[in-house]
Amino acid sequence: MSYPYQITSLEAYREAWQRSIEDPAGFWSSVAEHFTWRRRWERVLTWNFTEPKVQWFTGAQLNITDNCLDRHLEAAGDQPAIVWEPNDPQEHHRVLTYRQLHFKVCQFAHVLHNNGVRKGDRVCIYMGMIPELAIAVLACARVGAIHSVIFGGFSAQSISDRLQDAQAAFVVTCDGAFRGAKDIPLKSVIDDALVTCPFVKRVIVFTRTRTPVSMIKGRDVWWEDEVHHVETAGNPPFPAVEMEAEDPLFILYTSGSTGKPKGVVHSHAGYMVYTNYTFVNVFQYRPGEVHFCTADIGWITGHSYIVYGPLGAGGTSLMFEGIPTWPDAGRFWDIVDKHRVNILYTAPTAIRSLMSYGLGYLEGKCLDTLRVIGTVGEPINEEAWHWYDAHIGKGKCPIVDTWWQTETGGVMISNIAGVTPAKPSYATLPMPGVEPLLVDDAGREVEGNGVSGNLCIRSPWPSIIRTTYGDHERCRTNYFSTYPDLYFTGDGALRDENGFYRITGRVDDVLNVSGHRIGTAEVENAINMHAGVVESAVVGFSHDIKGQGIYAYVIMGEMHSDPALTRRDISLTVSRIIGPIAKPDRIQFVSGLPKTRSGKIMRRILRKIAEGETEQLGDTTTLLDPGVVHEIAQGRLGQ
Ligand code: PRX
Repeated sequence: MSYPYQITSLEAYREAWQRSIEDPAGFWSSVAEHFTWRRRWERVLTWNFTEPKVQWFTGAQLNITDNCLDRHLEAAGDQPAIVWEPNDPQEHHRVLTYRQLHFKVCQFAHVLHNNGVRKGDRVCIYMGMIPELAIAVLACARVGAIHSVIFGGFSAQSISDRLQDAQAAFVVTCDGAFRGAKDIPLKSVIDDALVTCPFVKRVIVFTRTRTPVSMIKGRDVWWEDEVHHVETAGNPPFPAVEMEAEDPLFILYTSGSTGKPKGVVHSHAGYMVYTNYTFVNVFQYRPGEVHFCTADIGWITGHSYIVYGPLGAGGTSLMFEGIPTWPDAGRFWDIVDKHRVNILYTAPTAIRSLMSYGLGYLEGKCLDTLRVIGTVGEPINEEAWHWYDAHIGKGKCPIVDTWWQTETGGVMISNIAGVTPAKPSYATLPMPGVEPLLVDDAGREVEGNGVSGNLCIRSPWPSIIRTTYGDHERCRTNYFSTYPDLYFTGDGALRDENGFYRITGRVDDVLNVSGHRIGTAEVENAINMHAGVVESAVVGFSHDIKGQGIYAYVIMGEMHSDPALTRRDISLTVSRIIGPIAKPDRIQFVSGLPKTRSGKIMRRILRKIAEGETEQLGDTTTLLDPGVVHEIAQGRLGQ
């Protein structure tokens, strides 16, 4: 057994789960014993879901980077911590051992400190998938600053909104980022964002693409120059700043059912323990193995299972800069072959996309090193599951279908590789510490098996969301008030005859497009920014590759003579306001929207029409103008 808290049999799982529910404090303190603490906790858990207030390991002092870096130096200093595969396969890959990563994180912690970053300050990181992104994240944690990573696909407007919400005075970015055949000018996007953020004092820019950038005197500095100053000073060590267990570690913005993204806050101790615990258990990680999580560090999956989980466990994390389909659709398989990957963790949308390119791209690629394969981010359909099993896992690798959320910090419901049973399209059983339950719309618990309902969690696990940054009430109303004394996930689920959970998708106005969460209200707000738009309504529809696509019904004030041009303009507006990930797949122009007499849009009807159901639309008599439904159904856009 590699880790003392690694579960290696079904009985041990059942026992651990039972114990974790009966005695959470005892259970989690026995896990936490195996970490490095500057001072031990006085109390394991204090909580109520009414405020909500959740505190784990109160009284403890620590720094997550002591656990992710320093403690591995003696025994595993020369082990690879990060293996980085560049966008362009012709470019050399990089390997950073624990010693090298520790060195670079200390260096950059000095850079942050020299530039005025102190404990509690918010630092926004907007970079491509290069090792320096992980270095910046860890350096923030080391100085006690709160990082907020923004995915490279978000627009200047989205960045500005997030910077203002977090009041982040520091930004770390790159000149640009490579993604497939594209070169994204990150610094220039930051410049646009900062027009509305005069409180930003410092922008540190790493050179990646050599795209020309403008540097503002007094505000912008080069990463390389700043590191050079530290070298000139003799590279002094940078002991990690001592943090309280509940000090915030990071803010990560995610979409909800309102128009404004929420800053989900996670704290040091609980997040550290839970990401590590789930990493070594779900994937059954063995020291020395290469773990390849294909997510971007801009999302929670990258935070937890590229950076903190694997490094906390002294593992080797493979980071990939590019995209699965460039230079061709065999890129993942080339990487698995080249770096002898043991664990591959990706999203169903990537699997479906690669499936559509056919098996030719697998030819000649050795996938024999794979031991465990996993999915995350959205429900996986059975066809994709079987393809993944047969062609990637070759029928011998357990597939872990991991359900969790930005707010949960780590995996909540998943089979444990090779230890607990898998079932196609089911996330199956809860992790120790997690007690799921289903409730009906009235909040009554739905008991027994073979039932479905809204998925809730009864009590806190160590990496539960602590607050939404700057607005605790929002955290309460979003997650803890729909059903009193329960955490509500926003997902629907069913529980089969064996007690296995299958997540059926969001039950709120949040879409899951290619595994990315996008609020319909956010997209509507963006569409409405277009000068010609009077009103819009956005719903999801089933999409073969993306899981869900974005379908927009739009009322124009004055219609341009060329609808195709107007559609393009609207898409461009959405791209500008949110980012390309939120561009509608279909835009249908309508003269009105189905509304109730009180003015509420009947999305149920719009969803049905978007799915192609134009006849059985249910009761429309309560609508203000039932005639509009017929018109919309007639004008439905096909493929
Ligand atoms: O609807 C669920 C879906 O993704 C949502 C969480 O999105 P996000 O916070 O962006 O985090 C994604 C990565 C953890 C959930 O509310 N989801 C996530 N994993 C699964 C899933 N749906 C079905 N099966 C999953 N394995």
